[in-house]
Amino acid sequence: MWSIGNVTLADGAALSPMAGVTDMPFRHICRLNGAAYTVTEMISAKALSHNPAREAELRLLSGIERPAALQIFGNEPERMADMAQQYGADFAFIDINMGCPAPKIVRGGQGSALLCQSQLAGRIIACCARRLSQPVTVKMRIGWDADHRNYLDFARMAQDSGAAALCVHGRTREQFYAGTADWQAIAEIKRAVRIPVLGNGDIWDGPDALRRMAQSGVDGLMVGRGALGNPWIFRRISDALAGRPLYTPDFAQKRQVMLLHCRLQQQVYPARQAVLRMRKHMAWYLKGFRDAAKLRQRVFQMESMAQIEAFVDELEAYSSRRADGV
Ligand SMILES: Cc1cc2nc3c(=O)[nH]c(=O)nc-3n(C[C@H](O)[C@H](O)[C@H](O)COP(=O)(O)O)c2cc1C
Repeated sequence: MWSIGNVTLADGAALSPMAGVTDMPFRHICRLNGAAYTVTEMISAKALSHNPAREAELRLLSGIERPAALQIFGNEPERMADMAQQYGADFAFIDINMGCPAPKIVRGGQGSALLCQSQLAGRIIACCARRLSQPVTVKMRIGWDADHRNYLDFARMAQDSGAAALCVHGRTREQFYAGTADWQAIAEIKRAVRIPVLGNGDIWDGPDALRRMAQSGVDGLMVGRGALGNPWIFRRISDALAGRPLYTPDFAQKRQVMLLHCRLQQQVYPARQAVLRMRKHMAWYLKGFRDAAKLRQRVFQMESMAQIEAFVDELEAYSSRRADGV
């Protein structure tokens, strides 16, 4: 067990925020499969007040997914705190995005652009920490580019400004997702601050998690891409950390999760949107099935959730264990 602020967390990995992915259905599925906590897609503090649909979606928090974090992005301290206060009451943490590399976000001086603006970043953290009742966490990268790896100064600044924990993706902004995450840098940050540090980047299975925890000494981990179509990774990570045999779902267990995912999509989104979202997740779930490429082509033609559900039932014939057992 470990904790952020006064919230106790299970050992293992949290679900990393992913725009377009970590909506309520997926967060629910990951939490059910052992994610220590979950994080919403990043939400713009500025845009939210003009987008009631987004607002309604945000308020959706499934009963089992607590603790969950609301991730916000922006560059206006008071407005960010206002927004988190208004919409974040049900969330255990408010996470501030200081790592998004997307050009349109960075051009607006938000996301990873804040790595180059320590003073403003500090004011955002301090304002949110002062005004919000729940712990404020910061999700950061290790710098802007290879010549500006200011992660130690930035991490200390975030701590001194009131951050309750840091989630560190071990890449620079310039790297986007290229190369490999620098876990040495994450280890240095862990040694440099007193607040909990979550390490993030390139964890694909339980053994990676064990190795990275041992190497870096971090308090917790965050997993993003490794959970796509593979929410069981959270159980496998908890098992690896506890020295247990790794959970390996059989087809019946996978089927149950895929069907639950379909049901949740339908509960949350209008029919067409639910199908489009579920197609994307099905394409990820198909990793490791025989003839996955052909199966994906079929999925992308499907127009109703009933079709997708019938397809899930057909999948047993294509089921084959991956070498890693997932
Ligand atoms: C599709 C996608 C969307 C993402 N959206 C966000 C986001 O909204 N907020 C954020 O802080 N990071 C976002 N990230 C970054 C991830 O949270 C994570 O830091 C990164 O993918 C590295 O972890 P991984 O190797 O486990 O995937 C996103 C990543 C992906 C692949």
